[in-house]
Amino acid sequence: MPSIPRPPSNEPAIRIVMMPRDTNADGTIFGGVILSLIDQAAYVEAMRQAHHLYVTVSFNKIEFHEPVYVGDVLSLYANASRIGRTSMTISVRVSARRRKTPDDTIKVTEGEIVFVAVDSQGKPTPIIEETD
Ligand SMILES: CC(C)(COP(=O)(O)OP(=O)(O)OC[C@H]1O[C@@H](n2cnc3c(N)ncnc32)[C@H](O)[C@@H]1OP(=O)(O)O)[C@@H](O)C(=O)NCCC(=O)NCCS
Repeated sequence: MPSIPRPPSNEPAIRIVMMPRDTNADGTIFGGVILSLIDQAAYVEAMRQAHHLYVTVSFNKIEFHEPVYVGDVLSLYANASRIGRTSMTISVRVSARRRKTPDDTIKVTEGEIVFVAVDSQGKPTPIIEETD
């Protein structure tokens, strides 16, 4: 049975400084690094909603609006938009505070990710306990 997610948190799920190890040959941050952070932020949100083992089944609608640079402080805000029987859809918005213009915060990336709660055998399991 689908259920209603808890209200969104005002706090970022993750806040992190981008480091030189995360750059591509152009000196900007790899998109794959941002995707990994989105995955982690979504996991934090999934665990806030309900404790389970989760696996990522799908990344949807990822949009990279602006580049990310070394020294940017990224904040990842994650919000569960749907809880199905065994799956949870989470929207993640990534904003950057630039090292050189710290008064401005800009949206750099956003996306949606779907997790599935699994049991110890890796099989889908209900997120909310089911009663007969
Ligand atoms: C995720 C996984 C357990 C799903 O197993 P499955 O047998 O296909 O599951 P089901 O068909 O019973 O679907 C389970 C739920 O996932 C949802 N789902 C399955 N595939 C999906 C997809 N591509 N996109 C969105 N949701 C999906 C179903 O809608 C269902 O949701 P609901 O219970 O809320 O209605 C299985 O595909 C898996 O183990 N994938 C690998 C996951 C992984 O290792 N991720 C990390 C990659 S490195």
